[in-house]
Amino acid sequence: GAPVEVDIGSLKPGEKATVEWRGKPVWILRRTKEQVDELAKLDGQLADPLSKRKPDELTPEYARNEARSIKPEVLVVVGICSHLGCSPTDKLQAGPQPSLPDDWKGGFLCPCHGSTFDLAGRVFKNKPAPDNLEVPPHMYLSDTRLLIG
Ligand code: FES
Repeated sequence: GAPVEVDIGSLKPGEKATVEWRGKPVWILRRTKEQVDELAKLDGQLADPLSKRKPDELTPEYARNEARSIKPEVLVVVGICSHLGCSPTDKLQAGPQPSLPDDWKGGFLCPCHGSTFDLAGRVFKNKPAPDNLEVPPHMYLSDTRLLIG
């Protein structure tokens, strides 16, 4: 499949856009500074906080950091659960919500079997999904133009 170019200039902090790449949904989330700051605090609850598993498949070298991204505020991930391939639902707001922990900081919930992911697409422990969401190959062509693929 061809690479996909996206202009993220109009994406506001806290907003998510979805584009299609190779038939898959790719999410682009502009995280707020507060959301980025929460990521490191979650490490103990995650299955693979530093994205060490299957690095060649799931996390390009430039995204092997806590935020799993090139720019800390911009997350780019494939929106397909690593368990059986459902598409997780946005649960971006922090705070208590049905079927989420009381101290939820925002992220994604898979409707199929309840796996949860943080705002870097990192999977929480003790959930059926074994791995973090895939970060697709991507680069910046300019400050706001992103090339995926
Ligand atoms: Fe997502 Fe099973 S497919 S938890």
